[in-house]
This record gives sequence, structure tokens and C-alpha cells, in this order.
Amino acid sequence: MCGIVGYIGKREASPILLEGLKRLEYRGYDSAGVAVLKDDALTIKKHKGRVTDLAKNASAHGLSGMLGISHTRWATHGAVTEANAHPHVSHDGKIALVHNGVIENYLSIKKFLEGEGHTFASETDSEVFSNLIAYHYAKEPVDSPSRFLDSVRRTLSHIEGTYGIAVICTERPDELVGARKGSPLIVGIGADEYLLASDVSAIISRTSNVVYLNDGEIVSLKDGELNLLTSDEEIRTPEIQQIDWDIAESELGDYEHYMLKEIFDQPQALENAMRGRFSDDGSTAKFGGLNVSAQELRQVDRILLCACGTAWHACLVGEYLIERFARIPVEVEYASEFRYRNAPLDKNTLVLVISQSGETIDTLAALRESKRKGYKTLAINNSVGSTIARESDGGIYQHAGPEIGVASTKAFTSQLHILSMLALYLGRLRDMSYQDGINYVAALKQAPELVTETVKLNDEILEISKKYKDMSDCLFLGRQDMFPIALEGALKLKEISYIHAEGYPAAEMKHGPIALISAECPAIVLATQPDIHGKLLSNIQEVKARGAPVIAIANQSNPLPPELVDDQILIPDCHRAVLPVLASIPMQLLSYHIAKLRGCDVDKPRNLAKSVTVE
Ligand code: M6R
Repeated sequence: MCGIVGYIGKREASPILLEGLKRLEYRGYDSAGVAVLKDDALTIKKHKGRVTDLAKNASAHGLSGMLGISHTRWATHGAVTEANAHPHVSHDGKIALVHNGVIENYLSIKKFLEGEGHTFASETDSEVFSNLIAYHYAKEPVDSPSRFLDSVRRTLSHIEGTYGIAVICTERPDELVGARKGSPLIVGIGADEYLLASDVSAIISRTSNVVYLNDGEIVSLKDGELNLLTSDEEIRTPEIQQIDWDIAESELGDYEHYMLKEIFDQPQALENAMRGRFSDDGSTAKFGGLNVSAQELRQVDRILLCACGTAWHACLVGEYLIERFARIPVEVEYASEFRYRNAPLDKNTLVLVISQSGETIDTLAALRESKRKGYKTLAINNSVGSTIARESDGGIYQHAGPEIGVASTKAFTSQLHILSMLALYLGRLRDMSYQDGINYVAALKQAPELVTETVKLNDEILEISKKYKDMSDCLFLGRQDMFPIALEGALKLKEISYIHAEGYPAAEMKHGPIALISAECPAIVLATQPDIHGKLLSNIQEVKARGAPVIAIANQSNPLPPELVDDQILIPDCHRAVLPVLASIPMQLLSYHIAKLRGCDVDKPRNLAKSVTVE
């Protein structure tokens, strides 16, 4: 959470910083701020609210300087106020800092600094950070050329917690310092300029050359040079990586919201997930970056899938897919729970984490814990170069393109598609037949076309949304592989429209949640699986009998009797390996339209941030 951008170069910093911040706003958007340094004069502008408003304010104040830092906040310590917005300046006015992360020992440091006469203007942990740097700066030899960098270095050795920081010092108008531990930070190398940022989206309009910082590293950008120190205080030669990203992919184009654009991006995202990933004979999938041999995979007798939020729902679908098609037992864990449990894992267990951003702190911690215990770890991830991508033993990139809307859509279906391909690959390494493989691959390849057909239901779904937009509660029901889709449908609706929604296995309803059913609590029922169709009809009868409106999602070839449903959305018939993807789309569109009709901020829902980098 929180996005940071820093700039040092030969151009005015503030427009570049503000432009970068706009692209990072998905990481947090309750307040924003910018600081620029010209000679020894520090100018700061903060705003409670969005970056666009800060930008209006900032241009009115003519921020000038070619060195600066900026921040968009997702509050952790301290309320959403201008005083708590970053940058935070030390009590002597010399050090300005922006921070993404949480300092766990900030209270003891604060107490110490107060004893030293430091005063504080905010309730944040981050202000302690800038003051501790100022404390050490005052103690470093005045004539030392590395005085500023050394003071940051010393400070970091006392900090417990996570950080991605960018720091400037009024007495060093030619130096920008950055550091990371637990929160992401990259250096962008442009023409006569360097940028620091939480992720690539902030800098891609200026450069595609980046250096990823590892945990514990510090970077000093000064006199056109980049100096990188490892956690052991050794100099590291920066490894420059080229980002293969098309800036147009992160533009809104003609769409009103990123979420809608990303729903319509799905056929392309699925194509990207499949590109170059089928065997020449078209009977199985292949993955370049797994780093696990077919022989090793045949030894695997259990798979642990681990993630958070929507990606956790993808894991639940993965459990059905892998068990059904590859016949390997799968367990699914919330990353946040797994990291603190001492779950016994067998030596033939493969751990697979899933994360769109590749920076979710709990998923990263689960990955590290698994590695520490000696397990082979793989990741499905959408962000090239992210921490999870770099720390896992191998993995599969989604190539879904940037997902900017806070509510995950295309990243989710792309994860489902990759899990389906993985189930095929593992199945073919075991007992899936050649012919079943051929049919499976053909079905996967058809998915983009079927999704294109399904998103055409948009207008129909808008009309249905108008009928239900004022509901205050909603149940999502599904069985087997449609149960996680029901959970995901409920999450989508609640996170962007603030309607209370629950996902349940349809048959579990009678064991409690049926008490919620009333004319005011519609049920959205996934009735798409031929093998359990009859059972689903009985579950729908139970809901209907209690007066709740029913919105069914069913197959074109098998619509439900009209007397059983109030509304019905018919999706194309498809192979079971593709069904979870297709069934997700009406859920996404319903949530989108209901949220929009209620006047909600679809892309930036309250209290949320796209990338959850704090525990
Ligand atoms: O980047 P990740 O996939 O690790 O993110 C996990 C969750 O934070 C994320 O899926 C979240 O639940 C979304 N808001 C869902 O729309």
C-alpha cells in the first residue's frame, strides 16, 4: 500500500512526480504529497484527497526544483489528515522522507527521539523515520562526502518492520537516497535522470530501463551515478533490466472505468496466457519458467496453493481443476494464515503461490516460509520482476497486462486459465489420455472467443443491475467449482458497491444462511454444471419458497424454467476446464453496473488499495 516516486535529473521534478503518483494511485489514495528541493530550499505540498487535487494545488504553488519525492497514502498509523500525509520532514527541517511500509518499533524510537528534543507534527510511524535519519545525520562528520547516505544506513539498522523509502536532505541538493525492506522499490534509469518508484507503472512513460532493489539494499543517486549497497554493505553492480511494457495498455481509452476496460480486456489476457504454451502436437501445455522437471513433478504427491483475496479464490478453483484433471491432492491456504501456522508438509509437496501484484506481503511471507522449510516453490504472477516472481524457484507469468482497477477481474480469469493449463500439464504427466489432452487444449484455445461472446451480455446485465441496485444484502450460491466463483462474485460486489454479500455452497444454505433469505435478499445462483443440475434446481426451489428473488447464471443449452427464476443470464456452453472463467464474467459485470448505478467510485473503492504490502 502507498506509492512513492522520487526524481533527480535535469528537468523540473514536480510534473514528473505528480504524473508518476497518478499511476500509483491504485496503491492508496486517501492523501498525497510532494516535496522538491532547489538549492537548500525545500517546498512541500500535501493534500487530503486525490492526486489530481494535489496536482491542481501544486501547480498553483509553482513547486520548483530538479530533485524531489512524492507519495500517495493508504493510512496505517494515524487518520487521513494533511498532517499525516507524506512527505515527512525532520524536526530540524533538513530531512524529507516518503515511506511505504510499517515501522513496528516506532514508539520506542519516538520516545528516544523525544528524549533528545525532537518534536513531532503527525501521528505516523514515518515521521519517526525522517527524524532518526536527522539524528544520525547530525552525528556524522560534517565534511564526510557520504554523510547523508551513512545517516540513512545507520538509521536502517535500528528500524524493525517494512519500508520502501525515498529521502532527500536540504544540505545535499544533488542526492536522492532510496532503500527497501519488505516493500518494493525500483530505480528507473532515464536520459540524464533517475527515478525511484514503488513499481514500473510510475516510470514507464520516461524509461524502460530499471534496476530492482533487493531487500536490505540502499541506493544513492548522485552526480549522474547510481551506487547500490547490499544488506551486507557491499557494493553491488546494478543489473539493468528492460521492461517490456506498452504504456498504452495502462491507458483508459474510451472506457469510463479501468474495471470495465479490464473486463473487456479478458479475451486478450487469455490469449496472452496461452501464447507459446502448448506442445507441438496440441495435446498438452508447456511452461518455460517452471524450473521443475517433468520427473520431479511426477514425484509430487500433494500441492499447496496459497494466496490472498481474489487470488485465493483462484486457488480454490485450482483445487477442483488439479484434483479433477491431474488427480493430485490439493490443499488451499490463506497466505496470511499459513505464514503463522506450523503446518506439516510432506517432502513431496509442491507449494504454488498466486499473486497478481507479486508484492502482497502475506503471500510473500508464505513463499519465504515454504522456502525456508525446503519446499520447491512456484508462483503464478502478473508483474514481471516483482518480489514474488524473483524469490520463487520458478513460475508462470500471466502476461495479462497491467490491472489498475482495485477490483481484480482479468488477472483472476487469467489465473484460472493458467491453473487450467497447469492441471492439463500435470494430468498429461500422469494418466490423462492423449485424446483427452487434445480435446482439452482445443477447449482452452476456444476460451477467448467464448469470453468475447459472454461480454456481449453487458447491456442485458446492465438492465438486470438496475432492478437490484438498491438491495442491501445478496447471497451468491454455487456448488463444486462454482462455489469459489460464488465467493468471488460476493467479494466483487461488496468491495466496489459496499453491499453486504456472502458466497455459499448452495447446499450448505440449509445449515444456517437460509435464515437470511427474504424478499429483500436476492440470491445469485450459478446453475451451470450438467452433472449436478437437478441438485441445484432443488436448492433454487428452497430459496424461491422463501420469497427471495433469484438471478440464475445458466448455460445457453440448458436454461432454467422461467417460473423458478426472476432473471436469468445465459452463458455459452463450454468444457469444464473453461467454465470457471466464463461463469465469472456475469458476476464481474453485475458488480460493476450495480456499483456504478449506486454512484460508487468503481476503480478506487473506499478503504482499499490494490497492492497490500502491509500485514
Ligand atoms: O496482488 P495479489 O493478487 O496478491 O492481491 C491479492 C488481493 O489483495 C486482491 O486479489 C484483492 O482481494 C482484490 N481487491 C480483489 O478484487
